[in-house]
Amino acid sequence: MLAKEVTKENLNTLVIKFYTKVLKDDLVGPIFIDILGKNLKEDKWPAHIELLTNFWASLALGEKKYNSSPFAPHIEFKERLSVAAFERWLQLFSQTLDTIFHPQIAEQFLAKSKTIAANFMRNLQIT
Ligand code: HEM
Repeated sequence: MLAKEVTKENLNTLVIKFYTKVLKDDLVGPIFIDILGKNLKEDKWPAHIELLTNFWASLALGEKKYNSSPFAPHIEFKERLSVAAFERWLQLFSQTLDTIFHPQIAEQFLAKSKTIAANFMRNLQIT
């Protein structure tokens, strides 16, 4: 059943399901694999999953645990990013949202992530 309410638990599920898809993707998967590893249970992944769960919880639930900078790390691999990569990221995120949340909630997350992606691309001068 699709969730009508956002919780820390379903955000954690969202993040894990999203990155499971990401790792299998031919365009964005290799970027994540090179930086974080190829197995969600190993290397830098557990910390990244917790960080991103907290990131979405800060936006959706007003939780205060995430106090980092979302944009900064992307500068390090700027040359590997493109409009197509961001479009793929958004497509995979949208597909994942649709498996977890009621359409109204999924739409809000997608709108937020589109705004962030547009800001990232503008700041990275990706056109
Ligand atoms: C093609 C698009 C993207 C790629 C390939 C990508 C890749 C990555 C990678 C590899 C990291 C880990 C960096 C590290 O730990 O050194 C990261 C961090 C992160 N990404 Fe992305 N990302 C993309 C788009 C986005 C978008 C659109 C958002 C938000 C909607 C986002 C949010 C974040 C956040 C919050 C972090 C953690 C930053 C921190 O606090 O350290 N990313 N991303």
